[in-house]
Order: sequence, then structure tokens, then C-alpha cells
Amino acid sequence: MITFESSIHALRRENFLEQLGAAAAVIPAAALVTHHADCEWPFRQDSDFFYLTGFDEPDAVALLLPHRPVGERYILFVQPKDAAAEVWTGFRWGTEGAMERYGADLAHPLDELSQRLPEYLSGAEAIAFRVGRHPAVEPLVLSVWGRQLDSYARSGDAALGLVAPTPILHRLRLRKDSYELTRIREACRISAEAHELAREITHPGMNESQVQAAIEGHFRSSGARGPAYGSIVAGGDNACVLHYTANTGSLADGDLLLIDAGCSLEDYYNGDITRTFPVNGRFSGEQRDLYSLVLAAQEAAISTVRPGGTAEEVHATALRVLVEGLLELKLLAGEADGIIERGDYRHLYMHRTGHWLGLDVHDVGAYRLGEQPAPLEPGIVLTVEPGLYVSDRLTVPDGQPAIDERWKGIGIRIEDDVAVCDFSDQSCGYDVLTAGAKKSLSAMEN
Ligand code: GLY
Ligand code: MN
Ligand code: MN
Repeated sequence: MITFESSIHALRRENFLEQLGAAAAVIPAAALVTHHADCEWPFRQDSDFFYLTGFDEPDAVALLLPHRPVGERYILFVQPKDAAAEVWTGFRWGTEGAMERYGADLAHPLDELSQRLPEYLSGAEAIAFRVGRHPAVEPLVLSVWGRQLDSYARSGDAALGLVAPTPILHRLRLRKDSYELTRIREACRISAEAHELAREITHPGMNESQVQAAIEGHFRSSGARGPAYGSIVAGGDNACVLHYTANTGSLADGDLLLIDAGCSLEDYYNGDITRTFPVNGRFSGEQRDLYSLVLAAQEAAISTVRPGGTAEEVHATALRVLVEGLLELKLLAGEADGIIERGDYRHLYMHRTGHWLGLDVHDVGAYRLGEQPAPLEPGIVLTVEPGLYVSDRLTVPDGQPAIDERWKGIGIRIEDDVAVCDFSDQSCGYDVLTAGAKKSLSAMEN
């Protein structure tokens, strides 16, 4: 059962309500998603809904109503208790549980939503609802709003704006409090252990699927829900396919193995780690050169993480180290500034250096504020994940050297999860939450 701290979610709702002004928010839970026929994927709660409620059942709807009196501001619509249904699909908290455990001021069965929504939304100056994401709830919200507008001339009561709740909510979600940091740290700890385990068991002749099984087995046996995203276990040239998730190849003597895997905890906090190491325990000369370069780029990039820094600076730092190193190795030619400006490195490094991490692996929150990159603030967690992928899938840009065969089939990424820290807590401005997964050149060999 999920670790559930009612007060954490209550505080989040308080902050959200305060910033909503006089807009009434309608925040739906996720629905179950069909896998095939009448089988469903394991349930995955909507992260916005979970952030505010901690409630982990499908189809529920939360109303946050700053225009209502205290005691009527947090309403949950939930699947009601139903012994016959619970025999098939499991326990439900029902309306009583929604109030007693989850702190709703009032809770109602889901099938009363259309009947009760007009009254709850009455008196709000705007409706905060994310259009385009919640097909079951959206027609109800739009119909209530439309009817309010129809009768506005006579009633004088209608929400005049439909606004997105997400800018407020995602600004809140971007900065993690100490509770969230503890949970992400736990996800990172388990994820790092799985990477250590994977390196210990890997040997030539194994299948990628066997390594994947060990990693994901560790996630489950450590109490996590499972992988936070499709684990990537990519031997040799498979590592040059960024989203390779088939994980069916045989691990060859002489190849590298790239593993991008992290767990998701019961309360959805995630780890996201990539490590790359030689299947046979020894780097070749070319593998060693490129591994050392990616590691240098990653360490330089991490060292720029601090309050007031930017994700843009993290990326630019990694990119410059990579380009300068590739020039030395003669995989690029020319001068670094021009190569970076023209993007003439993109056949070797084609992705950005990281993303926010939280309840979503690619977490919410703005990377830019208008023209400016958003400043890093204490509590933001980001990944730092440079890589190099040498294959002939992409055309070598004009003026750049053809790639010698000896480099091909080398795909390397090194990814850590890094919290931005107040300088008073951590003199360097960052904390690597995934430090439990080793990455030094010597640790990758045995
Ligand atoms: N595993 C997904 C990513 O690294 O962004
Ligand atoms: Mn990542
Ligand atoms: Mn990753």
C-alpha cells in the first residue's frame, strides 16, 4: 500500500487554491487504458491529480473551489463502494474513505458528477480545466459552462473564462519539497542498485532480456511499482537507437551495453539512470576514448548545476566538451564554435542533455520564460545525460569527416539525476541523487 501523508497533499492543495484566485478547478484522475481486448494496462494515475490528492483510483474527479466557503473547497467524486465490483477489480475507498483518509471536504459517487457540477461551479469567475486531455470529463465541464453562459443575461452568474490550471500546478510541481526529494532519492537508490546488479551479472552470450529481467526484478522486489519507463537494455549498435526497448539481442564479447532504466515508486516518484559498460569487462581503445569523453562532458555539465544556473547552460557545457573531444579524436573537423552553431555534431549527439524529473519522468515545468531560459532553483531535479552514438544511420554533414568503421556501433550515454540545492545546504549547488550507480572508467571494468 502507498505511503500516504495526508498533510503533504493538503498543503499542496492550499498552495494551489491560493493561486487559483477565483477560478474553480476541475482536475480529473486518469482512466484505465485498454491493452488489448478486455485487458487493461496496469493503472497509472494522472500526475497532476495525484500531486493534489494522493488518491490512486481511476476515473475520480477533484474539484478545488476557492470561491466556496471553508469546508466545501475540496470535493472528490469517486467510484462508490460496491462489493460485487470490488470482487473483480479490488478495493475502493469509496466516498467515506475519500473524506476520512484523503481529506475531501465532501465526496460523492462518480455518477453524480453531471448533476452536481453546475452547483459547485456556480459563483466561480473562471473554470480551470485542461482541455484536450480528459475525454470523459471534458464534455460535462463544457456543457455546464455553456449553460452558465446561456443564462448569464438573466442570472448574472457565469464563469467568463476557461483557463488552464497547468501553469500554476506545474510551477508548483517543478520545485520539490523535502518530502518529494526524499522520495525521489529513494527511487534513485533502488534504480542505482539495479544498475550495479546489472553490471555484476552481465557476461558475453547473455540476452538483453535477461539483464532487463534482473533490473526490473530488483525494482519489484524492492517495493517499487516497476520500471518508470520502458527499460532500454541495448547491446552494441542497438545503443545507437535512442528509444530501443525491444531488449531481445544477444550480448556480444567486445560490445558495450547501454542500460537506461529507473524505477517508479508506489507514489510515482521516479529514477532515471543510464550507464554504459563493456560486456566483457574491458573497454577497447575506441570505447575507452568515447566513454572518457562522455564522462568528462557529464561531469562538467553537472558542475554547472546551481541556483541561478540554467538547463541551457548544463546542455551547452556538455555539448562543448563533447565537440572539443570529438575534434581531438578527428570524428569532427573544423572549429568548435562553428560546429555548435551549425549543428554539425548532430549525427553523433542528437538529443538534449536532460529534462526535469519528478512524478513524470519527463517532468512538467517551464524550461523557458519567454525569451529567457528558466533559472534553476533549489528543489528542481533534473537529469544530466549526454551521450555519443556512432553509426551510419545519419548522414555525415558536409565538411565533416566520414566515420571510420572502428568507431561504428559504439553508443554511450551516462545519465544521473541531480537536485539543485541551496548553497547553504550543499556548497556546490547540486546533489547527485544517483551517485550509488558507479560510473568511473575503472568501475566499469572488471
Ligand atoms: N529514459 C528516458 C530519458 O532518459 O529521458
Ligand atoms: Mn532521462
Ligand atoms: Mn533515461
